[in-house]
Amino acid sequence: MIKTIFWKNNAVVLIDQNALPQIERHVVCTNYRQVISAIKDLTVRGAPAIGVAAAMGAALGALSIEAMPPEKFQIKFNLICDHIAKARPTARNLFWALERMKECLDDAISSGKQNLAARLVSEAKRICSEDITINRQMGKHGSVLLADGDNILTHCNAGALATAGYGTALGVIRAAREQGKKLHVYVDETRPVLQGARLTAWEMKKEKIPATLITDNMAGFLMQQGKIDKIIVGADRIAANGDTANKIGTYSLAVLAKAHGIPFYVAAPLSTFDFSIKTGAEITIEERSGDEVTNFRGVSTAPRGMKVYNPAFDLTPARYISAIITEEGIMTKPYLSLLAGIARKNKS
Ligand code: MRU
Repeated sequence: MIKTIFWKNNAVVLIDQNALPQIERHVVCTNYRQVISAIKDLTVRGAPAIGVAAAMGAALGALSIEAMPPEKFQIKFNLICDHIAKARPTARNLFWALERMKECLDDAISSGKQNLAARLVSEAKRICSEDITINRQMGKHGSVLLADGDNILTHCNAGALATAGYGTALGVIRAAREQGKKLHVYVDETRPVLQGARLTAWEMKKEKIPATLITDNMAGFLMQQGKIDKIIVGADRIAANGDTANKIGTYSLAVLAKAHGIPFYVAAPLSTFDFSIKTGAEITIEERSGDEVTNFRGVSTAPRGMKVYNPAFDLTPARYISAIITEEGIMTKPYLSLLAGIARKNKS
């Protein structure tokens, strides 16, 4: 199994996603500041993986203040979490994981527990292992939507690399294949930093899943040619009405899918849902450096000084989404009432 992120000897070990597919290597973070840098520079990326990295980064922070008395420890720990929360703005899982770590500390302190840092390390490891279980559940639920012989289009990387393992959108594909369904995957290269060409294609090759790489601007033509049966993508944040933020280019695919009558599925764990916001309009979309557009790996691809706009994500309105696959099952429209039910259940 591809090991994206794990805890070893009081350090966070990450597969270096910037080095893939040419070089398979791991980077070791021994303090939380290194984890923040790894999230910012996309060494670790993909909403669930960012969440796990944030939790493990917070655990490293906790170890560095281990000797403090509980009250001081909590103040400092919350500041460390606030610092990690600034690493990237869109993926809900980052904030969800940090909230869960803070709650773990609250519970431990209020019940007079000792060894606070060790408890936080255990919680971070739990978040990591639970993510794989959740992805497998999502895969099991979502696999019923895929039929033997389907050609599936995916965007960005919502695979093992974007999670603690197995993947969300690619997890659904993996699960369907485990059931013996023969599938073929079209992989969008995913400009500007090519998570599709570098990472999804790498995962497909590694597991011998039949796949074909296309550039983003080819997707519409393939749909017109009848080459795509279904589209499945991941998500970075889903509003209470089902509006979904995901990698830039997702919205165009969803509109094209609607025009061609192709089912468009989103696979995401409940930790990606933001029940505090009514619609996608409230989601902060990260804007990244223009260098990602004017350069590729040090090679300039545009005139020097060219003005660039580089939003990392876009918003797909719920009306374009055929179903959302979660670990609880498959949700179809209207999402609002179903999601409200889940939000109520999570609170109680
Ligand atoms: O900028 P990235 O690579 O972190 O963006 C990742 C995506 O948009 C993924 O599709 C999303 O996080 C879902 S991953 C299971």
